[in-house]
Amino acid sequence: MLFAIEEINNSTDILPGIKLGYKLYDLCGSIARAVKVALSLINGNEEMASMSEKPCSGSSYKVTSFLNIQNLYIFLYVSHFATCACLSNKVRYPSFLRTIPSDYYQSRALAQMVKHFGWTWVGAIRSNDDYGNNGMAIFIDTATELGICLEYSLPFIRTDPPEQKQKIIETIKGSTSKVIIAFVNHMDMDVLIEEFAHHNLTGYQWVGTESWISDSQNAQAKGHYILDGSIGLAIRKAHVTGLREFILDVKPLNSSGNKLFIEFWEKTFGCIFNHINQTEKTLKQCTGYEDLTQIKNSFHDMSLMPIFNNVYKAVYAVAHTLHTIIGCGDTCNLDRFKTKDGEEVYFNQYGDPAAKYDIINWQPKKDGSVEFVTVGLFDASLPEEKQLHIDNLTLTWANNSKQVPISVCSGTCALGTRKVLQKGKPVCCYDCIPCAEGEVSNKTGTKARLKRM
Ligand SMILES: *[C@@H]1O[C@H](CO)[C@@H](O)[C@H](O)[C@H]1NC(C)=O
Ligand SMILES: *[C@@H]1O[C@H](CO)[C@@H](O)[C@H](O)[C@H]1NC(C)=O
Ligand SMILES: *[C@@H]1O[C@H](CO)[C@@H](O)[C@H](O)[C@H]1NC(C)=O
Ligand SMILES: *[C@@H]1O[C@H](CO)[C@@H](O)[C@H](O)[C@H]1NC(C)=O
Repeated sequence: MLFAIEEINNSTDILPGIKLGYKLYDLCGSIARAVKVALSLINGNEEMASMSEKPCSGSSYKVTSFLNIQNLYIFLYVSHFATCACLSNKVRYPSFLRTIPSDYYQSRALAQMVKHFGWTWVGAIRSNDDYGNNGMAIFIDTATELGICLEYSLPFIRTDPPEQKQKIIETIKGSTSKVIIAFVNHMDMDVLIEEFAHHNLTGYQWVGTESWISDSQNAQAKGHYILDGSIGLAIRKAHVTGLREFILDVKPLNSSGNKLFIEFWEKTFGCIFNHINQTEKTLKQCTGYEDLTQIKNSFHDMSLMPIFNNVYKAVYAVAHTLHTIIGCGDTCNLDRFKTKDGEEVYFNQYGDPAAKYDIINWQPKKDGSVEFVTVGLFDASLPEEKQLHIDNLTLTWANNSKQVPISVCSGTCALGTRKVLQKGKPVCCYDCIPCAEGEVSNKTGTKARLKRM
């Protein structure tokens, strides 16, 4: 965000002579904290909002859901990370825009992918919040249309009691499907990974959503090997020229001269700046000259670049709008703009951007780490049969297999047999019985429509 604002401040093309300011509040993934800050700001009480600005305790989280407060019409929101399809409802959220695609598309894309690999019998786990519940509901609708059946669908949230984790483990162990769809945010996934590893839950093919599938913290979690071979949808790879250099150069961060820099620095280097009360004596002193290029984290490898790009586009969207409002003569383009790296940015009537996803496969490397390999693309702007494209590559599947796993309730009925649905079971489960005398099935997978001879 600072990078984008500095660029705009420097620019003579966009908002010439106008400098932008900013205020940043860290919500620490806490909905309570988000509500408090938002309400204070809406009431024009900036002081009160700042008072909530204590450092985050525990790790700092990305927020995947959004405030569900109505009547906040006069504020413009541009989110870089809230994906719930519910936010496309313009009656409830008239001034909400975003630079990350709606899960309306992600859920459909997931269902198409499951169908593509021939999995008609799958299990599902979802985060028990707006993200998981809404996303999974749309997935189930689409999957049902495509002839896919769910063996189970279970909610989970990281604060759940041990019984819920136990229930999930038992359900998976007692299931016959081999593919599990995880519409789970990366924070809940962190907890699940450890639990699954603890119960040695190997051999399942995981299918994931953008929140965890390209999260390097999840891929480094203890027990991450459980998820080797996972496949899922990720925010498209992106490059913002100059951003890496900006982030790795301490000066811009330091010159923001604030708590943000100190908190980031202390967390990154596990040190502490001279505080009045030196309570945490166990930590070494920060010098401020620690070398950011020498550390290994998601900032250094820039795995968060696609998310940073969404923030970058969001700031520019605001700047372009201001530029238009203030008056830009013939150079005005209300609809859309292009970033300096050539990406076209626009919002549709629901405030959503174009929906494109990379398809990512978790391929284990010799040293035990995971490589996120891009193996395809989903582009919702194309006709439905062309939206999903999987490259002709060798994928790595669960158990390090090179074969696409099979996850069906019943196998295809052989020649000369036909399907008979099992009572009380989903349509994907059936028995194959030999054709009666005088009947013939000359095609595998025949239902009940038969040719009388
Ligand atoms: C942009 O310019 C304004 C005015 O000079 C300044 O206060 C602000 O810090 C600048 N922002 C960035 C990110 O450089
Ligand atoms: C803005 O301009 C200053 C001075 O020329 C330069 O040092 C800085 O890198 C520029 N910032 C960005 C983000 O382009
Ligand atoms: C420092 O310690 C004193 C006594 O323990 C306490 O009253 C005070 O609030 C502390 N100040 C800060 C900034 O933590
Ligand atoms: C099965 O029989 C029908 C009707 O005779 C014929 O049209 C169709 O091509 C046959 N299918 C196969 C796979 O032989």
